[in-house]
Amino acid sequence: MTAMKSDIKDITLADQGLARIEWALDEMPVMRQLMARFARERPLAKIRLSCCLHITAETANLARVLAAGGADLLLCASNPLSTQDDVAAALVSHYQIPVFAINGEDNQTYYQHIHAALDHRPQLTMDDGADLVSEMHKKRQDLLANMLGGTEETTTGVIRLRAMARDNALKFPIIAVNDAMTKHLFDNCYGTGQSSLDGIIRATNILLAGKVFTVAGYGWCGRGIAMRAKGHGAHVIITEVDPLRALEAIMDGFRVMPMLEAAALSDFIITATGDKNVVDHSHFEVMKDGCILANSGHFNVEINIPALEKMALRKDRPRQYVEKYVLASGRSLRVLAEGRLVNLVAAEGHPAAVMDMSFANQALCAAFLCRKKRELENQVHFVPEEIDQEIARLKLAAMQIHIDGLTAEQQEYLSSWQQGT
Ligand code: ADE
Repeated sequence: MTAMKSDIKDITLADQGLARIEWALDEMPVMRQLMARFARERPLAKIRLSCCLHITAETANLARVLAAGGADLLLCASNPLSTQDDVAAALVSHYQIPVFAINGEDNQTYYQHIHAALDHRPQLTMDDGADLVSEMHKKRQDLLANMLGGTEETTTGVIRLRAMARDNALKFPIIAVNDAMTKHLFDNCYGTGQSSLDGIIRATNILLAGKVFTVAGYGWCGRGIAMRAKGHGAHVIITEVDPLRALEAIMDGFRVMPMLEAAALSDFIITATGDKNVVDHSHFEVMKDGCILANSGHFNVEINIPALEKMALRKDRPRQYVEKYVLASGRSLRVLAEGRLVNLVAAEGHPAAVMDMSFANQALCAAFLCRKKRELENQVHFVPEEIDQEIARLKLAAMQIHIDGLTAEQQEYLSSWQQGT
């Protein structure tokens, strides 16, 4: 349906969405504080802000903070399958925030919605995967002059944007929210760990204990997934291309081997690398009958599904979110969530308590970009350390956890190079 310049599935879902947004807010104490502060200080007053994010209950609370700060805000989806349609309806109906996102939208609609967000003529962008920035630079260069800057939520987006900056193609400053400590150490690790296992379990209801569970990639997301799979009693294998990460995985107690060997042993394979065709034709050839394949990386390119489509004699859908490919050998392979982010498609994304910190970074970095008024270079910048520290302090305070401070003597010791044994 279309209402107030929005394109969402069904406005009658709004009350259900509202209940979920309020439920999530209970777990977001930092965002509650920012909402009150932004309402007082209005750091985004009248700034046109387009956000391309997963449309979830947690994102709705970010939108509320941004709106409280005075932003003239519009949201579109950063993935065609992750939109929570009830949340989209609540944003439109209860908060009068325009949303262009429908769960299950095809690629053409997905890009129409991105362009609707660009038609808002943003001064700030907030991306999860860099689609807004990338489309603006490729097709809407007329908009570049308005831009104060943008923020980026995820590892994959930061990689894309750093590639643009390297080529001198980036025409406004970006803050890599992903790289804040209060983001990737918690969201990527504990968030992806819990929500990916949640997605796999909701989609399959298959026991993990005793199964061989391969994780491709031992970055912050991969290690979160591996940790949680181990906690379920699975035998976890890691595949890596980076020797340091491979060593870390070994010393964290996991087996490490090439994908071709792991593929032949695995009951589950989950990708979290950010790269393409990590699970490919040669791996499908050796997999065990019934092997379950899922992805937690941003784009649906990590499992080579087009190759699997070609190999398969038939495709069935035994459960929602499961596609079973029957091969000529008689084996079948089961792909979850069409190879898209299993944690957001088959479950509800990361729990609110970690998104609390990720989105506090987003809100504070948006305000920072406004204050800077285009002073920053057209590069990908780190989140200012004061913002990271402040979020950690607020989160600890909300958890009622107190920590020690340095004594004057300790401070002096740390700043001196003359004292030894
Ligand atoms: N990315 C991962 N989990 C998310 C969530 N719950 N909301 C928005 N973006 C997310």
